[in-house]
Amino acid sequence: MAEIKCIGIMTSGNDAPGMNCAIRAVTRAAIYNGLKVKAVYRGYKGLIDGEIVEFETQSVSNIIQFGGTILKSSPSKEFLNPEGRQKAYDNIVKEGIDALVVIGGDGSIQGAKIFAQEYDFPCIAIPATIDNNLCGTDTTIGYDTALNTIMHTVDKIRDTATSHERLFFVEVMGDGAGFLALNGGIASGAEEAIVPTIEIEEEQLNHFVQNGFRKTKGSSIVLVAANEQTGGAMHYADLIKNQYPELDVRISILGHLQRGGSPSAHDRIIASRMGAASIQALLKGLRNVMIGIDNDEIVYVPFSRAIKNNRAIDRNLLDILHNISI
Ligand code: F6P
Repeated sequence: MAEIKCIGIMTSGNDAPGMNCAIRAVTRAAIYNGLKVKAVYRGYKGLIDGEIVEFETQSVSNIIQFGGTILKSSPSKEFLNPEGRQKAYDNIVKEGIDALVVIGGDGSIQGAKIFAQEYDFPCIAIPATIDNNLCGTDTTIGYDTALNTIMHTVDKIRDTATSHERLFFVEVMGDGAGFLALNGGIASGAEEAIVPTIEIEEEQLNHFVQNGFRKTKGSSIVLVAANEQTGGAMHYADLIKNQYPELDVRISILGHLQRGGSPSAHDRIIASRMGAASIQALLKGLRNVMIGIDNDEIVYVPFSRAIKNNRAIDRNLLDILHNISI
């Protein structure tokens, strides 16, 4: 196995708060261990276009507190083709990069997996997405900050919902997963959460209106995970409006504000731990794994497991939400 003297680092896919903390940790841990660091701008696109510069320790000074990614992120259709990946590999050779650390979500890890296999090239992934939809890690970088953003925003919506005795459908992100909706619902004291993997039939919604909103509540908040198939918050609000025209129903779609903001302490800590662990992993000879934190321990998750897209949602959490929102 060739010795690793220089690593490439990049962020890819959708940004997530805490990515900068991970960039900082990877850079500093690499330099501490005597490695060179080459920063790749704009993800796989930048790898193909050769947007690569050497980083020093001070290149990552004063970034730990900022959301987004200083390395930028851009989609790359070209990387999906073997010709594009060949260009990326040529740049890697030209720059003397011996291993790549990719910070991102499932699409980014998918890209690393293909590239690692095609060129027998060492890649390590660090999970960063607000959706929390990767397997093998307790949480992904950015999820906790997004949850806090949702909680604070719903607190504000609650003020006006209560004043006007309204029923609000609040749509949150999740990319087909319901973690933000469910835990955001618990954190903000929502009365219901509609998540893609747990069927909420019309009957259940009616039950909620009859028993919650109508009988005891002056206001109600329903968190809905964005879902292209059902139509998300609009769809459920329409269902209720048709059936209960007397209710004052409003919709609030939180959108991209969930992706921004200064990372929470939790996200800063896990990003720092995972960043440092990525360098330790490479030095130990590990390849093609995602760094995870499972039960507070660093773990190495094979790419194929991490991106399986079958991370289960805990149904008990929905029961808890129901039990304590009566
Ligand atoms: O990965 C986070 C995510 O917020 C998803 O939940 C959402 O579907 C997607 O990004 C939206 O991305 P964009 O509109 O920036 O392409």
